[in-house]
Amino acid sequence: MASIILDQIKASPGRMAGRGAVASLAVLACIYYDRAVFDSKRADIKTQAGWPLVGNLPLLLQWLSYIHEFLQEGFTRLDGLTLTMSALGIPRHVGTIDPRNVEHILKTNFENYIKGPEFTHGMNDLFGNGIFNANGEEWKYQRKTASHIFNVKNFRDQFTDVFVQEIDFMTKHIWDKAADEHRIVDFHDVMFKFTLDSFVMLGFGVQLNALASEDKVPFAAAFDEAQKNTFLRFVNPIWPVTEGILRAIMPWRSSMKDHLHTVDSFARQVIEQRRVQLANGEVKKDLLSRFMNARNANGEELSTDELRDIVLNFIIAGRDTTAQALSWTFYMLVTHPRVEKKLLQEIEDNITDELMYDSPALYEVIKNMTYAHAVFYEVLRHYPSVPLNQKYALNDDIWPDGTHIRKGDYVLWCPFVQGRSEKVWGPDAKYFRPERWITAEGELRRESQGQWPAFHAGPRVCLGQHLATLEALVAIIFLVKRYRFSIVPGQEITYQVSLTLPMKYGFKVTVEKREQ
Ligand code: HEM
Ligand SMILES: *[C@@H]1O[C@H](CO)[C@@H](O)[C@H](O)[C@H]1NC(C)=O
Ligand SMILES: *[C@@H]1O[C@H](CO)[C@@H](O)[C@H](O)[C@H]1NC(C)=O
Repeated sequence: MASIILDQIKASPGRMAGRGAVASLAVLACIYYDRAVFDSKRADIKTQAGWPLVGNLPLLLQWLSYIHEFLQEGFTRLDGLTLTMSALGIPRHVGTIDPRNVEHILKTNFENYIKGPEFTHGMNDLFGNGIFNANGEEWKYQRKTASHIFNVKNFRDQFTDVFVQEIDFMTKHIWDKAADEHRIVDFHDVMFKFTLDSFVMLGFGVQLNALASEDKVPFAAAFDEAQKNTFLRFVNPIWPVTEGILRAIMPWRSSMKDHLHTVDSFARQVIEQRRVQLANGEVKKDLLSRFMNARNANGEELSTDELRDIVLNFIIAGRDTTAQALSWTFYMLVTHPRVEKKLLQEIEDNITDELMYDSPALYEVIKNMTYAHAVFYEVLRHYPSVPLNQKYALNDDIWPDGTHIRKGDYVLWCPFVQGRSEKVWGPDAKYFRPERWITAEGELRRESQGQWPAFHAGPRVCLGQHLATLEALVAIIFLVKRYRFSIVPGQEITYQVSLTLPMKYGFKVTVEKREQ
């Protein structure tokens, strides 16, 4: 049907063209009264109706800044755990918050779902062929190479050490001063510096010292902007055009191109520096060295371009997610004094100051701190660092809930919406209650990966899950032990729509030292 009308439009010659086009458009609008033109109807899936011909595109653009609430609203209104929307210019997406489906996509039928063309295209400038953007063999060798640094010995000795050192630095240079001088500090900004310094140190052996500078380091500022732009490409099908126009009409403003340039030179500097070190006979065993000694999917040594992609992919993995999780954690703590008090109790009962100088012992003690883990998991339920994610179906499939997926569909899962769903987490889903993570025996409850996909699931589960948890807990423990933070009143705390979940306007706090 659609193709007949399209042929008519194409065929309408000369004078008839205007009238013919209007008539055809009217016919099209009748057929596609609730969805994007030429999108097929998916009668078996709960569907959020849209406008004629453009589908949900206007709504999507209108609600873009609150996309997670918009989706949450959609799931509630349709009263289901799986839905679809059609929007002009954006390929068909089927979204789900059903834990069974999530587990199916990411684990059980892993082979059928890849990072699809839309993903790869939009992400390519920033992420290149790095691990987030890669499929198949290209992904496998990166995963395998990186996995070697995540061993217990590194955790116990080296990683914990790096985190403790960075926290010590942060304590002296930022929090003690802020407490003495009664200064307001942006907690979110400090956490980004902390995780950047820590990760660049343990991954690439570079002492960046972002924590020592008042302003954002240029690399970090450019990296944030580049990610925001990358996300926008997912909802803006004509991004190559609009980005070009923006650059042309506002040449004084930094464009995506400039941000990419800054980010790129940073990565290349890190690699160059390492080449010099290696030439001088220095031996390193960190992430970067492992990749410099590895062979790529074709059995060759990695080029600087490939290494650049790897460096940037790991920085987004290692910096942003953890900094955000820490920021949301402290936001939850300052707004939930009951939880803070209970956490402080566990810290005081378990952590002595000497542990600060004995990383292996500290690591062992932290592993046993049930409540601290529960707080962190509960934060990630409400504020998952990767709030929304998608894959691409290679073949037709049927989900555990009966949904028929067609070859070429994009599938969407929504940890942010899922974490807040009463259907998934029960009637108290909206409350911040770490106790839900503790069993009657007082042990940490292990939720299935489908139920709680904060760290993804299956073969591509977050490689840094344990690293991130350790880093976050070391920071939480020492900050809570030493300081009482208060939120500066009158600020709006909300997320910035991006690939991850940063705080849009930051998180301003004041701080007092606790009596030791
Ligand atoms: C709270 C902190 C973190 C959260 C919530 C988190 C979450 C995630 C999620 C959801 C993914 C899947 C992304 C996708 O493929 O679309 C992922 C992948 C990944 N994460 Fe994390 N992450 C965190 C911290 C870290 C850290 C500190 C590292 C350090 C190296 C790391 C390394 C990775 C890597 C390498 C992947 C790609 C895995 C693959 O595709 O095989 N993550 N993470
Ligand atoms: C750790 O803290 C918990 C809760 O306060 C307490 O029950 C436990 O005994 C502490 N563990 C050690 C080893 O002190
Ligand atoms: C951690 O807990 C286990 C089991 O309760 C206990 O055997 C072990 O001694 C604890 N470790 C530390 C360092 O407290």
